[in-house]
Amino acid sequence: MTSPSASADTLLGTDNILEVDDLTMYYKTRGGYVKAVEDITFDLGKQTALGLVGESGCGKTSVAMSLMGLLPGNAEINKGSIRLDGDELVGLTREELRERRWRDIAMVFQGAMNAWNPVYTVGDQIREAIRYHWEPAPSVEVANARIAELFELVGLAPAMLERYPHEFSGGMRQRAVIAMALSCDPKLIIADEPTTALDVIVQEQILKELKKIQDDLGMAIIYISHDIAVIAEVTEQIGIMYAGRLVELGPTPEVFADPRHPYGLLLLRSTPSIKGPRRKLAPLVGEPADLVNPPPGCRFHPRCPLAEERCAQETPVMEEVSPGHQVACFYWERTAELDIEGV
Ligand SMILES: Nc1ncnc2c1ncn2[C@@H]1O[C@H](COP(=O)(O)OP(=O)(O)OP(=O)(O)O)[C@@H](O)[C@H]1O
Ligand SMILES: [Mg+2]
Repeated sequence: MTSPSASADTLLGTDNILEVDDLTMYYKTRGGYVKAVEDITFDLGKQTALGLVGESGCGKTSVAMSLMGLLPGNAEINKGSIRLDGDELVGLTREELRERRWRDIAMVFQGAMNAWNPVYTVGDQIREAIRYHWEPAPSVEVANARIAELFELVGLAPAMLERYPHEFSGGMRQRAVIAMALSCDPKLIIADEPTTALDVIVQEQILKELKKIQDDLGMAIIYISHDIAVIAEVTEQIGIMYAGRLVELGPTPEVFADPRHPYGLLLLRSTPSIKGPRRKLAPLVGEPADLVNPPPGCRFHPRCPLAEERCAQETPVMEEVSPGHQVACFYWERTAELDIEGV
C-alpha cells in the first residue's frame, strides 16, 4: 500500500522516519536550568532500530519525552527540530501532540505500572486507545479482534484482556504495554526500559521480542536501556549520550568494535557481557556532570583521560570519522591508545 506521503518521500529520496536536529531542552528548577538535552542531532531510518545509552541522568528519557511531546510543565524546548515522517513536531500545541501520540509515536514506559488506570480492565484501556485514534473508529468487534491478535503477538493469554492491571505480574504488564503501544500501528516506538522494575532476564526477553515484532510489523524503534549487551543485539545504530549531549553515533557493530569517543570506549568496554578480548582499562572515575552548571567546553573533559586544555575551552561538534560514524571529540584519533593500554 502506498500512501501519498510515502510516494513524496520516495521522490525526495528520504528514507528517514525521524529527523532530529539540534534538539535542546532545559528544565526550569529553583536551582537554575537543568541543561538535560543539548544540540542533539540524529536521523532514524524507516524500520530501523537505534539504541540510546549513557549513564543514569544523562538525558535519555528527556530525549524520549521530547519526541513523545510528553514533557512536564517546567520543561522547555529551546531550540531545534523534530520531524516525524516529514512533519515538524516542535511548536505543536498540547492537543495536536495528543492526537499524534500512540497513533504516530508510542512509548513503552519506564515504570509500566503508571501507564494503566487501575479501575478499568487492560482490554478496556487498549480498546479506548484504538477507538480514539483509528480513523474511522472501528466497531467493538473489530477492536476486540485486533487486541486479541496483539495479545497473541506479545505472548499474553486472551483471558488476560478482562483482567485489571494489578492482576498482571511485572513482566506481563510490560507485555501489555507493548500491546498498547502497537495498537495504533505507530511509525515509531520508543522503549524506555526500567532499570530496576523488572528483572534482567525478563527485560532481555521483552527487548528481544520487541525486536521480533518490529521485524514482522516494520516500524522504527528507539531502545533506551542500561543493558548494553542487548542493545548490541537488537539495534542497527547506537547513540552514546554524556551529560545531555550525544557524543558518539554510528552503526552498532562498528561502534562496538571501534568506539572512538573516550567516553564511548570506557562505557562500552566496562560492560563485561560484551564478547571480545578482555582488556584492562582505566575505570571511569569522577562524578557525573552537574547539568545546572555543566563543565565548559566538552562536558566530559573533567573525567577524560585524553583531555587537553582545548577541551575545557571549546565544545567539540560531531565529526564523521567513517561513513555514518560520528564522534564529538577533538582527539578521537587517540582514543584507540586507551584501548591497548594495560593489556
Ligand atoms: N521534571 C524534571 N525537572 C527537573 N529536572 C529533571 C526533570 N526530569 C529529569 N530531570 C533531570 O534531567 C537530567 C536528565 O534526566 P533523564 O531522566 O532524562 O536521564 P536518563 O538518562 O533517562 O537517566 P536514567 O538512566 O536514570 O533513566 C537529570 O539531571 C535529571 O535529574
Ligand atoms: Mg531514563
